Amino acid sequence: MINLGDIVEVAIEDISSLFEGVARITEDKLVVFVPQGLPGEKLKVEIIQKNKNYLKGKIIEIIEPSKFRIKPKCALYNACGGCEVQNIDYNYSILLKNNIIKKIFSSLVDENKIFPTIKSPNIEQYRKKVQMPCSQTKNSKRILIGYYKKNSHDLVNIKFCPIVPTIMNEINEFIRNNCPVSCFVEKTKKGLLKHVIARFNQKDELILTFVFNDNKFKNKDFELFCKNLAQKFPSIKGIFVNLNPNQTNVILGEFTLKILGKDAIVEQLDKFYYKIGPLSFFQVNTSAASQLFRIVKDAIKDNSTILDAYGGVGAIGIYLGDKAKKITLVEVNNEACKLAKENYGLNKIKNYEIFSGDALNHLDNFKNEGKTFDYVILDPPRKGCDKKTIDSIKDLSNNIIYVSCNPQTLKRDIIYLTELNYKVEFIKSVDLFPYTHHIECVCKLVKEK
Ligand SMILES: C[S@@+](CC[C@H](N)C(=O)[O-])C[C@H]1O[C@@H](n2cnc3c(N)ncnc32)[C@H](O)[C@@H]1O
Repeated sequence: MINLGDIVEVAIEDISSLFEGVARITEDKLVVFVPQGLPGEKLKVEIIQKNKNYLKGKIIEIIEPSKFRIKPKCALYNACGGCEVQNIDYNYSILLKNNIIKKIFSSLVDENKIFPTIKSPNIEQYRKKVQMPCSQTKNSKRILIGYYKKNSHDLVNIKFCPIVPTIMNEINEFIRNNCPVSCFVEKTKKGLLKHVIARFNQKDELILTFVFNDNKFKNKDFELFCKNLAQKFPSIKGIFVNLNPNQTNVILGEFTLKILGKDAIVEQLDKFYYKIGPLSFFQVNTSAASQLFRIVKDAIKDNSTILDAYGGVGAIGIYLGDKAKKITLVEVNNEACKLAKENYGLNKIKNYEIFSGDALNHLDNFKNEGKTFDYVILDPPRKGCDKKTIDSIKDLSNNIIYVSCNPQTLKRDIIYLTELNYKVEFIKSVDLFPYTHHIECVCKLVKEK
C-alpha cells in the first residue's frame, strides 16, 4: 500500500483539466495527479497527498522527459501559482487543451461538433488586466508585490512577469521603492495597501487602482506619490483608490474614488471602440478576444435582435452591432452599464436598450412580458447561469450562444439546456489564457422544433 512520503516511479498517461499529469498505480488502483508532469513522461515522485480516491505526487526526478517539455520563461515558475503551463511547448499546450475540451464534452456532443482550439495571437504580455496582492516583510518593511504560491496566501515577490505588459513590472518596482503607506499583512491584519490592480488597453495605456484596508481615504503623502507615479509613467491615464476594510477573499470594496486622471481608457477591437473603467469587466486577453467575438458574430444572421445577457461594458453586443437590428444589454455592475451606454454612442449604435441589475430578474420580466429575441448571448461569470435564469431563456429565444471561461459549469448548463430541448450545434474554444490551464469556450445551442 502506498503511503504519504513514499517515493514511486510513475508513467504519465494523460493530463487533467488542471494541467496536472495523470498516472495510475496499479497495485492500489489509484490515480496519482502530478503537477508539471506531462503525458509520456517517466517520473520519480514523492506522494505528498493521499485521499480516498486519488494521490498527489511531487516530481523528484524526471527519468524520461517529454519532447514537448521546455524551459519556463519565468524564473519563478516553480514558486508562483500564476501559470501552470510554462513548461510546455505552446503548440503542444493547445493540443492538450483541445483534448481536455473533447474529453469534457464527449459524453454530450459528437466529436465533429468540437472544433480545434484557436491559438492566442500573443503569448507574452497578453494579460491586460493585472491584479497583484501586496504585503511587506516583518523587520525591514520591504514592500512585496506579486502572486500567491499555488493553493496558499504566501506571497511571491514578482520582479518580472512575462505575461503582463513589461511596464507593469517597472510600475511595481516604483511602488516598492516609493510607496509611502504600509502594506497589509494577512497574519496581523495590519497595514493599508492590499492590492495593485491595473487595466491596460492594447497600446498599454492603463488605469491603476490601489485597494486599501480602510473605510476612508485621506492621505496627502499618497496623493503626492500618485502624482509622481503618473509623471514617471505617462501611460498611466488614471489612478483610483478602492476602500476594502473587509477581511475576506473578495478583492474590491464598495467605494472607489479617483485620485487623478481619466475615468476610463479606450480599447480598440477591430473597428470597434470600448471605454473601460477601473471596476468593469473586460476580457483580459484583448487580442484573442477579437477571435472569440468573431466566432459569436459568424454564428448569427444579419438583422437580428440580440439579448446580450451578462453584457459588461457592451463588448460582445457592440462587436455584433453591424449585424444587429436591436441589442438589449443586461448587466449587474452599474459602472459597466454607464460605460456600455457611452460605448454604444462611441460606436454609433442607436438601436439598443440597457437593463441594469440581475439577469435573473430581468430575464424573468422579459418572459412575463412575452418578449422574444433571435439570439441570446450568455457570458456569465465562472459559476455559470442558475437554473431559474435558464428557465426564462427557454421562452425568450430558440438560439443561444453561450460564452464561458469555465468548461465545467458550461457542461452543467448544457446538460440542463438539453433537457429543455436545445441541441448543441458547435463547441469552439480560444486560448484566452496562454500558460495557464484556463480555456474559453463558445457553444451554440438551437432549440429543436
Ligand atoms: C464574463 S463577464 C462578460 C462581460 C462581457 N460579455 C464581455 O465579454 O466583456 C460577466 C459579466 O456578467 C456580469 N454579471 C455577473 N453576475 C450577473 C448577474 N447576476 N446578472 C447580470 N450580470 C451579471 C459581470 O458584472 C460581468 O460584467
